[in-house]
Amino acid sequence: MTTTYAVHSEGLEKRFGEVHALRGLDLAVPEGTICALLGPNGAGKSTAVRLLTTLITPDGGTARVAGHDVAKDPAAVRRVIGVTGQDASVDGDLSGRENLRLFARLQRLRGAEGRARADELLAEFGLVDAADRPVRTYSGGMRRRLDLAASLLIRPRVLFLDEPTTGLDPASRNRIWEAVRRLADRGTTVLLTTQYLEEADRLAGHVVLIDDGRASVTGTPAELKARIGRYAEAVVAEDAALPAAAMVLGQLAGAEAVLDPARRAAGAVTTDPTLTLPRIVRELDAAGIPVVDATLRPPTLDEVFLRLTAPKELVA
Ligand SMILES: Nc1ncnc2c1ncn2[C@@H]1O[C@H](COP(=O)(O)OP(=O)(O)OP(=O)(O)O)[C@@H](O)[C@H]1O
Ligand SMILES: [Mg+2]
Repeated sequence: MTTTYAVHSEGLEKRFGEVHALRGLDLAVPEGTICALLGPNGAGKSTAVRLLTTLITPDGGTARVAGHDVAKDPAAVRRVIGVTGQDASVDGDLSGRENLRLFARLQRLRGAEGRARADELLAEFGLVDAADRPVRTYSGGMRRRLDLAASLLIRPRVLFLDEPTTGLDPASRNRIWEAVRRLADRGTTVLLTTQYLEEADRLAGHVVLIDDGRASVTGTPAELKARIGRYAEAVVAEDAALPAAAMVLGQLAGAEAVLDPARRAAGAVTTDPTLTLPRIVRELDAAGIPVVDATLRPPTLDEVFLRLTAPKELVA
């Protein structure tokens, strides 16, 4: 039996004048799963979402959403998807309820049905109390929740979310995550973009690291983290101790250490799951190195990219 993909693209390309935004993006998202497109600013995430939701047309390659070709049958694609763009699409002068009713009409829901669905979504997203206030008085998190609600008026088979939680506080982020999980539990396939490793980790069964318009690494969050490892770092009290600290850290991590002289810090990426912070501190101490601070933490997204997308000779 072959897997059915809700989103399937091969060699997807998009140019904007000189800028080659997508250079052959391959995606295969099985039905009913959550896939995260993870990448830094300018990686091509929004371009991918806009292509897959038929807002723009590809210059090369193919993509199918729920079996429909985005270039040949965009209308069929639009009927089965929901999309929340990176920028708010709701109208600030209208209330939350008015916005949802307007979107319902645009999506051709019948009057009574549209009103009922709008009320249902306001309740589901915790917006009942604010429902009749103008949206411009909403907080960022409330506005984002309303945006998401607007993309769910017709229960989509495939939902696209472009950076659904960027700029939100942890509580608002959690509410969005819960809503996305509920949808996926009911069978909606979700493709979301994010700049946060943690978000991809919490939500997605599958992560695609996108860099320079291509999928550079794909896998489950666990696979990705295992490849990335952790970052071990020590800050020392005096400049003279830095080379020795780098040597100890490098040996412990099993990788070459990098120096940040301005911060008097030495750090190294380790993929050794048994390495612990106490051991790092003990070894530095045993070597007589005056340690001010030591950490062992998941890498930041910047470090992930440095490690997984750098030219090979730069990777320790
Ligand atoms: N309409 C456009 N005209 C010209 N260039 C564009 C256009 N849209 C995107 N680009 C360029 O294409 C590249 C990819 O942009 P895209 O918006 O897809 O990145 P992104 O991964 O969504 O970034 P961000 O995290 O900042 O949202 C960037 O270099 C961007 O400047
Ligand atoms: Mg974007």
